[in-house]
Formats: sequence, C-alpha cells, structure tokens
Amino acid sequence: TNNPKAVIVIFGATGDLANRKLYPSIYRLYRNGKLSKNFAVIGVARRPLTNEDFRNNVKKSINGLNDPNIDPDEFASHFHYNPFDIQDLEHYAKLENLIKELDGKHQTEGNRLFYFSMAPNFFGTLAANLKSEGLTTTEGWTRLVIEKPFGHDYESAEKLNNQIREAFSEDQIYRIDHYLGKEMVQNIEVIRFANALFEPLWNNQYISNIQITSSEILGVEERGRYYDSAGALKDMMQNHMLQMLALIAMDPPIKLTPEEIRSEKVKVLRAMRVLNEDNLDEYLVRGQYDRGIVNGEELPAYREGNGVDPESNTDTFVAAKLMIDNFRWAGVPFYLRTGKRMEKKSTEIVVEFKDLPMNLYYGDEHETNSNLLVIHVQPHEGITLHVNAKKGDYSAASTPITLSYDNNAGDKMNTPEAYETLLHDCMRGDSTNFTHWDEVALSWKFVDIIANAWSKKKADFPNYESGTNGPKEADELLAKDGFKWWDITPE
Ligand code: BG6
Repeated sequence: TNNPKAVIVIFGATGDLANRKLYPSIYRLYRNGKLSKNFAVIGVARRPLTNEDFRNNVKKSINGLNDPNIDPDEFASHFHYNPFDIQDLEHYAKLENLIKELDGKHQTEGNRLFYFSMAPNFFGTLAANLKSEGLTTTEGWTRLVIEKPFGHDYESAEKLNNQIREAFSEDQIYRIDHYLGKEMVQNIEVIRFANALFEPLWNNQYISNIQITSSEILGVEERGRYYDSAGALKDMMQNHMLQMLALIAMDPPIKLTPEEIRSEKVKVLRAMRVLNEDNLDEYLVRGQYDRGIVNGEELPAYREGNGVDPESNTDTFVAAKLMIDNFRWAGVPFYLRTGKRMEKKSTEIVVEFKDLPMNLYYGDEHETNSNLLVIHVQPHEGITLHVNAKKGDYSAASTPITLSYDNNAGDKMNTPEAYETLLHDCMRGDSTNFTHWDEVALSWKFVDIIANAWSKKKADFPNYESGTNGPKEADELLAKDGFKWWDITPE
C-alpha cells in the first residue's frame, strides 16, 4: 500500500541522525500523505528521558517544516520514549509490551520497523536479543533498517551480517545507503533506460572515461573519533561512490525488480579490476587536509582536530582510477574522487564521450569540446548535455553549448528527502534502493586490499590545503591518461 501502517522503533533516538533526518522525514511523509495516521514511533536510547522531553525534541527537529494543517502536538503524540539498555534482557520484555500497546492503540496491524541508528558495535547483540526475546515475531511484517557503517572491513561486515541473519532473513534487512535515496541517483536508471539516445553509446566504443566526484566543504568536525579509524576510503568510497559506479556501469536489468537490478550491480562489482600492493600507486591517490582558508576563515588541519591522532595516517581524500574488465567497459577508466574540506559541496557524475573520428572544425576560430553528459546529484539537481554548435550569425565557427535540465528543486543540501524516500520504500517492502549483502561483501573485499596496503605505508600527510581540490597527484592520475577532471557547475 502507499500509506503504510507501522510501529517504528528507533534505536539511537537521541542521536544526531534521528534528530536531523529521521524525525523530519517521518513528518514529511505524514504531511505528504505517505504515512497513514496509523503509526507510532518508539524512541529508544540509554538516556532517561520522559515522553514529554522526547516529544519536545521531535518538535524541535521539525521546526521550519510545519504545515498549518497539522497540529504539532497531535503529531508528537505518536512518539513515545523508552529508556533502554541493550544488554539487559528485561528491557526487551518492556519494549515488547509497549509495541503491543501502541499497535493496539494506533491499529498498526502488527507491522514493526526496527531502525538501528546507534553505535555499530551494538548492532549484532541487539539483533540477537530482539530475536531471543521474541520481538521479531508478529502477525504483521517485521523489518530492519540498518545504518552504516556496515562493518569496518570484510571480516567484521561478514560477522555482523551473520549475527543479523540469525535474527532476520535477507528480505527483512534494509541496509541503508542514503545516496540511493537521492533523487538524481535514482534518476541514473531512468536517464539510461528510458531514452533511446544514450544506451547505444554507453560503452567503450563511444565513452572515453567517466568521472564521479563527491566533494565536501566540511571537515570531520566533532566526528573525529569515528572518522580517524575510517577515512574517506571506508566512509564514502566503499558505499556511496561504489554504489553510484554500479548504477552507471551496470547492464540494463531485464525488469525493474530489486533482484534483477541487484544482480546487474553485483556483476559490475565483480568485474572491477582487483588491485594489489604493487600496482596501487597507479590507481589510487590518498590525501589528508592541511590548514587552509575556507570562506575567509583560517581552519585547522585534520591532525589538529578533536579525537584525531596528531600523527594520523587517515585519508580525508581519495581519488581512484577503477577499471571494469568486461566487454562493455574494457579500456574505459572510471575516475572516482571524494574528500573533506574541498572547495565546494557537490556531487557530480560526468560521462565524457570520445572524439569524432575526424574533426572538420579545427583552427583558431573554432572551439569544440568533448561531448559530456553530466548528472548533477547535489546540491543542484539536474542534467546537462554538452555539445558543440554554431557560434552565431555571420560566423561559421563552432562553440560548445549546454543543454540543460533543472529539476527546479532548488539547492537540496542536508534535507531529509533521501531518508524520506527510503523509509517509505522500506515500509512498502521495496528494497530496490538498499544494498544487498552481496554488494556489501564485494565492496569491502575491494576496499580491504587498498586499506591494508595503506596501513603498512605511512603517507606523506598532510598533502592538500583546506579549501582546495585535493592533492596535485589526483590531477596527475587523469593527466597521465590524457584526461582532466571536469568541474561543471550549472549556472
Ligand atoms: C556519510 C558520511 O555517509 O555521508 C559523511 O559518513 C558524509 O562523512 C556524508 O559527510 C555525505 O552525505 P551527503 O548527503 O551530505 O552528501
């Protein structure tokens, strides 16, 4: 159904993600008629809050979204707080009773959604206890949404997966990658598979290279402790970047079902050229930000941040050249780049087409560029197609022009839309935009080789100034293949 009924249990209810994304998402779903009145939210966390405290927090988090037709107190009355100790089995019985009570009160048909949004080292224990204490059996559906990070390497991810799989079956598990909830990431498939124009050219005969960049202005701020043990490779590349790559590079699925799409994505991940310690430097560049001036303000280096080892070897930037060794992509480099404290906040996918076999428009008066298809993921959402055309009257000269589609959404930074879509999908039982275990496993295996090699060899950090586009080696990575990073921000 389109407006699901459920009791949503959020573990980590006092955390940043819950306040910044989850409560606003639930509000927006409710406001937009995508969540029926038959819902309740149970906030679970360690802290001893009252229902009233909790509801006040929720109301604060939806401040600014208020719809005059919705009484904020009525909305907040669907929220209940349940102080909880994950290790204490008695607390599970209490939680079960509360779920049952709210299920009866709000007529949620026994449907329950568990949302794991707390420290990942508790994920396994929590899943096991939910099962052993009988919380995973109900007459309705039971689903689990699980936040990243899903492990910190292949081994830990596999262990976590096994623990979770003892309590939930694969079709109950929704592993979140919030990039898959972004409008323009979801648009990749439509652009590719609903147009006659692109798919015939979508291969190594016509495409010279593909670039995926996700840059951020922010540094790691108060997340130093987590981030210093992760780094850009694990924090962004293993999940968001490789997911976008898989969607760009996969073959057309035979149907738009989660299984068919996943099986095409998995084939891409399996075809990625496996790197090794000896050839790593040909394919990877790592960086860490130094001090620098951002928006007129002098900011400290990564190593000077809270919770960060002053001699940290952690990457805050990574650029990679990935090769997908299959018939479609043999010989086409995919350049992926992501980093903190860069010049701007932006996510963009650039598909660069090969030059024509012969160029009639050469000479001083002519200016031509490679054809580019750019998917602007954020903050601006849209698509631009870069072609060459005639310059104007009286001139036979050529010049690059831009055809552009703007999804008119304005700038969508830090908005809850991605979570809103994903929560709605989960409650409808649609797992298309979540990551299957096979994808997680392959991504970790790929990343582990790089992470292990890097951990053995101290980097020459810091190597890029805050507010810039990363170390110069990232430009050289493309230059040695005869390419450059395209940096195209729509007007
Ligand atoms: C998260 C990372 O998964 O994605 C963060 O842990 C990063 O470090 C964030 O800042 C970026 O997401 P978005 O939606 O702001 O591009």
